[in-house]
Amino acid sequence: MELPFSESYRIKMVEPIRRTTRAEREKWIKEAKYNLFNLKSEYVFVDLLTDSGTGAMSDRQWSELMLGDESYAGASSFYKFKNAITEITGLEYVLPTHQGRAAENVLFSVLVKEGNIVPGNSHFDTTKGHIESRKARAVDCTIDEAFDTTLIHPFKGNIDLDKLEKVMRESADKVPFIILTITCNSSGGQPVSIGNMKAVRQIADKYGKKVIMDSARFAENAYFIKIREEGYRDKTIREIVREMFSYADVITMSAKKDAIVNIGGFIAMRDKELYKSSSVFEIVYEGYLTYGGLAGRDLNAIAQGLYEGTDFDYLETRIRQVEYLGNILLGYGIPIQQPIGGHAIFVDAKRFLPHIRKEEFVAQTLAVHLFVEAGVRGVEIGALLADRDPVTRENRYPELELMRLAIPRRVYTNNHMDLVAAGLKNIWDRRNTIKSGFKIVREAPIMRHFTIELEKI
Ligand code: F0G
Repeated sequence: MELPFSESYRIKMVEPIRRTTRAEREKWIKEAKYNLFNLKSEYVFVDLLTDSGTGAMSDRQWSELMLGDESYAGASSFYKFKNAITEITGLEYVLPTHQGRAAENVLFSVLVKEGNIVPGNSHFDTTKGHIESRKARAVDCTIDEAFDTTLIHPFKGNIDLDKLEKVMRESADKVPFIILTITCNSSGGQPVSIGNMKAVRQIADKYGKKVIMDSARFAENAYFIKIREEGYRDKTIREIVREMFSYADVITMSAKKDAIVNIGGFIAMRDKELYKSSSVFEIVYEGYLTYGGLAGRDLNAIAQGLYEGTDFDYLETRIRQVEYLGNILLGYGIPIQQPIGGHAIFVDAKRFLPHIRKEEFVAQTLAVHLFVEAGVRGVEIGALLADRDPVTRENRYPELELMRLAIPRRVYTNNHMDLVAAGLKNIWDRRNTIKSGFKIVREAPIMRHFTIELEKI
């Protein structure tokens, strides 16, 4: 008999979570104004709100915390951190930051000017926010295949080279850099191929532009390249990572994902001059150059986490768990973004609840039902998140209404995945009894989804 696949770690410490009743959950979600961000985490049984900062550190990472050097300047922890990053990415100049968006803030303070255009593949919200708040524009050049959840394409995070070339032809003088998000969170944790990275590099070189990689989930991207891209099967994850980053000038990183820590981030780059100009903003916004908003112990945990996060056995365990959940849902006929991505399952809410009007927030409706049904917290990636048009103040309705179920790293077992799947199946079976969604009763002028208050229609 063939031995079954199983996890490449065992559990040394546990954190109790509490089972709740449907009546309790109905009361709590109403009190939370049907906004899942407003829920106390103790009310949630399986928390799939995000895979960011929610991973379980290893025994070695916890040991590293004890070895942290808390000197203000020149701490050994900084050098451990920097050396790990340089070894893994090949990039020499490193600035620590307190998380990913802080890296964007420091770097874009140097590079992004009013009126600029920044092409990329479905920029993450904070990336877009840091571009738009500088009165510049993010242009999405993702391939069209990414927006059809039923289409199977191995690299749905790829840039459409014709779209990119058009932007460059028309407005290269306004483009400070091209940004590639690996994996592409907004399109469903979908990877970018090495072939696409190379081609983007060529276009950037043709116009004399930088390539920045938003690398929150770079190791998961490398895993997909190994598994799916011709010619990479026999390469190690680290070799693939080195090749990926050979096409980048700068990387920004939220270490809360693939470095498996609860907080942290960094910028890494080749150019000493850019490092010097970024250092000015680093000191203003984050802290001195060798700690950047982090404790020495955090720097140590990130260094260790980067080695663990680029280990094939770990990545295989991680991504196969996401696939495990996705395959059960597909078996039930539940519509999800395909192929299954790296960090999350994206349920296609428009196809799940086709009879709910978009004005009633389809993915949010599904997410509320899932919490009430099973105590599982996902997150809406749809019209609430898309916010209003800054000029007309009309609601923006994106092409896709998705409910994201992000899987924390090394935290839940497949029994938890079974529970999530069963909860969704129950809703799927009674989907025609869900007659209506929600209306907004209160919202903030920007980033409204975090604090929005809703009422049942
Ligand atoms: N880039 C990507 C691709 C991200 O997914 C995130 C965060 C960031 C940058 C910003 O990093 O949170 O450390 O400041 N994504 C989280 C999520 C919040 O839930 O997907 P951060």
